[in-house]
Amino acid sequence: MLSHNKKPNLILGIETSCDETALALYQDSGLLDDIVYSQIEDHQQYGGVVPELAAREHLGKIDILLAELLNRNNLTPQHISHVAYTKGPGLIGALLVGANYALGLAKALQCPLIGVNHLEAHIVTPFMNDTFPNKPFLTLLVSGGHSQIIYTHGFGEYEIIGESVDDAVGEAFDKTAKIMGLGYPGGPVIEKLAKQSTSSIDLPRPMLHSQSAMLSFSGLKTATRLAYEKQKDKPNIKADIAFGLQQSICETLVHKLKFAIKKTNAKHLVVSGGVSANQALRKALETLPVELSFPAMKYCTDNGAMVAYLGYLRRNDPPPSPKIQSRWRIDTLTKN
Ligand code: KG4
Ligand code: ZN
Repeated sequence: MLSHNKKPNLILGIETSCDETALALYQDSGLLDDIVYSQIEDHQQYGGVVPELAAREHLGKIDILLAELLNRNNLTPQHISHVAYTKGPGLIGALLVGANYALGLAKALQCPLIGVNHLEAHIVTPFMNDTFPNKPFLTLLVSGGHSQIIYTHGFGEYEIIGESVDDAVGEAFDKTAKIMGLGYPGGPVIEKLAKQSTSSIDLPRPMLHSQSAMLSFSGLKTATRLAYEKQKDKPNIKADIAFGLQQSICETLVHKLKFAIKKTNAKHLVVSGGVSANQALRKALETLPVELSFPAMKYCTDNGAMVAYLGYLRRNDPPPSPKIQSRWRIDTLTKN
């Protein structure tokens, strides 16, 4: 058998931080393949992710997914040169499943183990079949758990320019959808419904007058709920609320990004995380004086490809310690 350092690079990426069990293979020439099991249907009836259920689902699916990923590429586990997994941030039980699985596999295959940061994985995603930029750039990271404006000085060097002091953008979409009985996740259904809006509902633009890139979405969420409860019986109210919420979020993010662009003099904006799939947001961001990069649609939400790619970039990092880190700020990372 070849020892790991003689094997061609084939990085297995494992993502289990929330409600997607996702695996991928990345090699020197780029992404080879990826596979994802979305637990959306398992959590839908609860209107949000149930952590215990997420962990159990990961446990039941991870092995099956790896077998399928390898089989359909005519590979065996012995072809894997490195095992990368999401070390954090995320749900503790869910992270533990991926981390323990990765650890066992790396031990059995005698190959290096790489524990990656989920937020950094979202940041690098748009470059997975390209080269990582050699100039600084700004990132808008908008997901179900995070809303941050980050300045990337270079790979591994991140400065938070602004972030939400309370709810994440994705949470505002998800909770509004839950209140209106639209199921989980809220983002895609709100986006779809907004297209049927006929009259606009005026909702607040949070923290617009603060001279900073700080964000807040909890007040907007409450204002949206109150507006809906007051006008519940009006025809087409759900679509009008959906449109109003999306508008408020887009305008607020554009405003805050203008501030961040001015502050950092950034010329390039990368938009990542689940909410970056939103077409209205993508359109609104086109008004900004920067070059824009987005991940391919299928890699906006959680996926294994971003973990495998980041594992590739960090393949020479020392072994992860501790095994998981459920809270892990991106500005504490280093290059290696
Ligand atoms: O990155 P992600 O898959 O998981 C986290 O790391 O949180 O993001 C999930 C979030 C959910 O809040 C979901 O509602 C939101 O991304 N999302 C969207 C859209 N697609 C997913 N929000 C707005 N518009 C969309 N099309
Ligand atoms: Zn994510």
